[in-house]
Amino acid sequence: MKITLIHGQNHKGSTYHIARLTAEKTGGDIEEFFLPKDFSGGCAGCHACLNKGREFCPRAEQVSPILNSMLASDVIIIGSPTYIMEMTGHIKCFLEHIFTLWLPHRPEEAMFSKTAVVISTAAGAGMKNVVKSLARQMFYLGIPKIYKLPFRVMAASWDGVNEKTKKKIDIKTDRTARKIIAKNKKASPGFKLKFLFNMMRKSQMNNDYALLDREYWEEKGWLGSKRPWK
Ligand SMILES: Cc1cc2nc3c(=O)[nH]c(=O)nc-3n(C[C@H](O)[C@H](O)[C@H](O)COP(=O)(O)O)c2cc1C
Repeated sequence: MKITLIHGQNHKGSTYHIARLTAEKTGGDIEEFFLPKDFSGGCAGCHACLNKGREFCPRAEQVSPILNSMLASDVIIIGSPTYIMEMTGHIKCFLEHIFTLWLPHRPEEAMFSKTAVVISTAAGAGMKNVVKSLARQMFYLGIPKIYKLPFRVMAASWDGVNEKTKKKIDIKTDRTARKIIAKNKKASPGFKLKFLFNMMRKSQMNNDYALLDREYWEEKGWLGSKRPWK
């Protein structure tokens, strides 16, 4: 099992510990990235990735190692503390840079068999909103199986988390890891993902503005009978 572990923060607080625990319990080769250490800055809005190709992004050099790791992984784990009821700005900045892999643009076949785990902690509220938002990101990348792990920790650091909450974290991360191991590499698209893919397929047939996207769908044979999943 290969795991890409993306932390939406540099420091090692509650979210880091839970994300790391989930990865270790799942087992395998873990490649880890910390944002903003390994990636920083928001999208410049130049549309180069959309109109010319991802390699033309001004931050392509920073994006590639993380994206390549994601593409080569069986499992993608993303952890973000809840900041003002949302994911951290760092994680959003990174995700902005891979929007051309979304289903309406140029999705990658490799995504359609992956599992994602999205994790957030909050002192009081907002963690469910964050995991929902991160799960949406994973879904639009074409990832069929997504586990959401929101935790109210009532603390500003891992040391401050009480034993009862740590026990709950232990149980939930255990359960998630066991499910991932049991289904090892068997994730496949369900009705919702296939439905959205078919909608995007229809819209690509009439797409005369994002030509690179349309060419991509044509080359893949997806406007015909081929599909990105087995
Ligand atoms: C900038 C900032 C914004 C925060 N916003 C929220 C929030 O909206 N809701 C909440 O319950 N806690 C909020 N918190 C608290 C953290 O989400 C909480 O302590 C979290 O568990 C920290 O995770 P960490 O230990 O991984 O850093 C915020 C903390 C910071 C630094």
